[in-house]
Amino acid sequence: MRPPFSFRPPYQTLRWGPRSFWLLDQRQLPGKKTYLNIRDIPAACTAIKTLAVRGAPLIGVAAALAIAHVARKGAGRRKLASGIKRLAATRPTAVNLFVALDKMKAAVDKGYSKDEIVEEAREMWMQEEQYSMAMAEHGQKLIRKTMAVGTYCNTGALAAPGLGTALGVIIRAHLAGKKIEVTVPETRPLLQGARLTAWELSQWKVPYTLVTESALASVVKDLDAIFVGADRIAANGDTANKVGTHGLAILARHFKVPFWVVAPSSTVDMDVKNGAGIPIERRSADEVKTFGLCRTAPRDARASNPAFDVTPAGLISGIITEKGVLSPPYGKSLRQ
Ligand code: MRU
Repeated sequence: MRPPFSFRPPYQTLRWGPRSFWLLDQRQLPGKKTYLNIRDIPAACTAIKTLAVRGAPLIGVAAALAIAHVARKGAGRRKLASGIKRLAATRPTAVNLFVALDKMKAAVDKGYSKDEIVEEAREMWMQEEQYSMAMAEHGQKLIRKTMAVGTYCNTGALAAPGLGTALGVIIRAHLAGKKIEVTVPETRPLLQGARLTAWELSQWKVPYTLVTESALASVVKDLDAIFVGADRIAANGDTANKVGTHGLAILARHFKVPFWVVAPSSTVDMDVKNGAGIPIERRSADEVKTFGLCRTAPRDARASNPAFDVTPAGLISGIITEKGVLSPPYGKSLRQ
């Protein structure tokens, strides 16, 4: 029997044609839905660095497709190897980027044909899509018939193939007929919550309320659960995610609200023992000194802009991967 709903998001984040590769330009959302034509590796690097494409699993898949695209246009082994290096230097925190590029490097090193390289990238894409559907199924079982849930940053189809990660769980529960009200923090400085999560929830017609991060201490007590994504999960369960996640987890613990991390196994880094080993991206101070296009601080103000923080495993109720709901202590369960 066909399910009474469609799992396909009503918008496409990646477009792969017979001769072209396009990315939905997330910098323009929610104002404009425009696609960037990715013709070469520098264009892909700029798209990743400037967050035209973002979200841990999506960065990995976009980088793999960029390599596949230049391979099918005739790039040889040396050019592909240098493209992989350039892409690896774009953003340091999401381990998915490195997992994806390692796979592409192995394909290039083994002398795969261009068709096989394309196949490798497309398989990764499809696999992430399946992971997202599995996470959504496992996670939505934690959501009751009526529930107030919180999230952070953007973790929907704009951040991962398929339904997404944390937002995928919420959307899946909505599609299953549950009555959900979502609290969406705007996620300063780049407003992934306000611009992207609010936009995605509107597309799916999921009820939500946007709040500033400053309001979180007053609103978290009214939530029944919080679902967030991850950019890198260390072997002990410590989790790097968008800066502000750690503060939200502390509030959740204070108010006894379950705090769930939703991420595919491609986000787990068993080579990193704990959160202290996770590289944290530091972005331009200008992102903090502006709000959209408007300057909001003196030009010479000193500002710090870590893009991620690490939530200790002890503050996390459990990690939802494509394998199921994993509970602490994680031991071997996080291993792929
Ligand atoms: O800087 P971004 O927008 O790429 O950060 C994204 C996040 O922090 C997400 O929560 C994370 O990648 C998990 S989403 C699938």
